Amino acid sequence: MIITIDGPAGTGKSTVARALAERLGFEFLDTGALYRAIAWYCLENNVSHDDATRIVELTSTVHIRWEDARLWVNEEEVTEKIRSEEVTLGASRVAVISEVRDALNDVQRKIAEAQNIVTEGRDQGTVVFPHAQCKFYLNASAEERARRRFLELTNNGELAEYETILEQIRERDERDATREIAPLKPAPDAILIDSTNLKPERVLDKLEQTARKMY
Ligand code: C5P
Repeated sequence: MIITIDGPAGTGKSTVARALAERLGFEFLDTGALYRAIAWYCLENNVSHDDATRIVELTSTVHIRWEDARLWVNEEEVTEKIRSEEVTLGASRVAVISEVRDALNDVQRKIAEAQNIVTEGRDQGTVVFPHAQCKFYLNASAEERARRRFLELTNNGELAEYETILEQIRERDERDATREIAPLKPAPDAILIDSTNLKPERVLDKLEQTARKMY
């Protein structure tokens, strides 16, 4: 069984998808991590996130492995390294390149081939797994998503500015939603959930109830 969870950045998708996979005994796949892997690998090779030709070349030779919610690029584990701001913005730039998307779609479909999976991203229900049995689209206001990210950073003792975070979230939303290939949007058969005023636990309960009915 394939369960897809799509939606913009900062809706709590990853946390909820991971927890849902755990409750159901499914594998969990964070597809944003794969785009981040490419963006990280570009930085390692001094390739600009706007240099499509070089990015396509790098993508065709790199080996990306996702296993038990950990990520490797070639033989190097990058699970935490891909969370920097630079990689975050770079990921949405490399994600507009069709060859990159095709290569990563193959990786995603291979992972889903042999196991039950909860997969989250932007295009899981629309493009990668259009025949998934259970699809969700998670949303929340940009202000609430920025507020959550701000709290997460300041709770970790990091310096953060709410207005800058909000601006970055809007920039990423705009790029993800307006790109030509696989733009961010709900699949026609996705169940829409607005998490602006919902605690992650409540969102998780809703998803689990729905998924169990279809399982
Ligand atoms: O979800 P996350 O913030 O890690 O995703 C990073 C970037 O990767 C997103 O801003 C988006 O541009 C891209 N992405 C995508 N398709 C996916 C998952 C992520 O284009 N399925």
